[in-house]
Amino acid sequence: MNEKIREQLIATAVAACQQAYAPYSQFQVGAALLGNGGLIFTGVNVENASYGLTNCAERTAVFSAIAAGERVFDAMAIASTGGVAPCGACRQVLYEFAPHLIVLMIDVAQKNRVTEFSLKALLPEPFSSQRES
Ligand code: THU
Repeated sequence: MNEKIREQLIATAVAACQQAYAPYSQFQVGAALLGNGGLIFTGVNVENASYGLTNCAERTAVFSAIAAGERVFDAMAIASTGGVAPCGACRQVLYEFAPHLIVLMIDVAQKNRVTEFSLKALLPEPFSSQRES
């Protein structure tokens, strides 16, 4: 991923964060997913009065991309206060489509503070219905 695309991905996640629907937790998350075709798909957390129905920003981005026809992904940027890492459920959903994904985490209060991990490092033993070597 070149520097310009990386910066664009980060800026898209930061901008998306403001669209989060998080009236219950007040914790807004924005995600930007870079498809292999060069398009960026965004997602935000969408909460519900029935708390357990909440959808995380990362999964919203994945589902939006799949619905648009993209299935191969190179990187995801996630923006939040504190620059938190994706939850376990989202890691597993990301693994389904992008086992080699690069994950960037951005603290919206300090936008130059970006942490980078591979999904493989974040989810060392993913569930797979087929055992991989
Ligand atoms: N949340 C995300 O959007 N992504 C994560 O990886 C973890 C948590 C959301 C869910 C909920 O709306 C809020 O953050 C607080 O948990």
